[in-house]
Amino acid sequence: DDTTLPSPTPIVGVIGGSGLYSLLERPTTLDVPTPYGPTSSPITVGDLGGVQVAFLARHGSAHTLPPHRVPYRANIWAMASLGVHALVSSSAVGSLSPELPPCTFVIPDQLIDRTWGRDDTFFDGDDVQHLPFSDPYCARLRAIAMDALTDAGEQVRASGTTVVVQGPRFSTRAESRWYRTLGADLVNMTQYPEAALAAELNLGMVNLSYVTDSDAGESEDDAVDPVVVLDRLAEAQLRIRSAIAAITLAIPNDYRARARVADEAVRRVLEAGVAI
Ligand code: ADE
Repeated sequence: DDTTLPSPTPIVGVIGGSGLYSLLERPTTLDVPTPYGPTSSPITVGDLGGVQVAFLARHGSAHTLPPHRVPYRANIWAMASLGVHALVSSSAVGSLSPELPPCTFVIPDQLIDRTWGRDDTFFDGDDVQHLPFSDPYCARLRAIAMDALTDAGEQVRASGTTVVVQGPRFSTRAESRWYRTLGADLVNMTQYPEAALAAELNLGMVNLSYVTDSDAGESEDDAVDPVVVLDRLAEAQLRIRSAIAAITLAIPNDYRARARVADEAVRRVLEAGVAI
């Protein structure tokens, strides 16, 4: 491991979801201790098409962390402490809409949180902060991602609402039906609290969701099959990698997210780690 930060430091961090466990050429593995314990996997920094990028595998390098045990705070804190300003994340999602069949890419713009018991704030002490979160993902990064993928010849849905469930089990038919009536298009297990924690540290975030299944199914004899989910992810590996790379490379060097929390408060959170 190396503790020296590369220069220039990466502006973009990538959080790889299921099926995406490494991304970079000639990676340097960093040991980034955090006040919240170790990150899901060591962060690697390396080259992606000529740009320095930080990468982290959300479920661990060997996929050993279920969604409710991902150290979300450590992951986001570590990325922020490296000086990252933009996060690009990938997710496998179920679809709740016949208009979003398996193998579709979606760039979600909204979330419904149905998780529980997760550490979902950096401000859980006497530093009381209320985060504006009406738009959980960064509109500018979403537009950049949409353009980059369209230029790369991909068909992508430019918006969608993800309901984030606790997992690790999939949903019942009644839950799946209910989520549809709530206006959700996609179902996933990790987009919350990841997006909220990124927003608390003023990181911009865009998520690329890949539809692997139709959740509890459109007919009574159909239902999500975890083996099919993994097969679809494996088949799509190259497509997902190329899409994440295209988005990452399209983010300008001077990108800075709109601040949602006072910079002072963010600095206090990041400095708390220095003493650890
Ligand atoms: N991730 C991929 N498919 C999913 C589903 N149907 N429900 C929750 N998370 C998922």
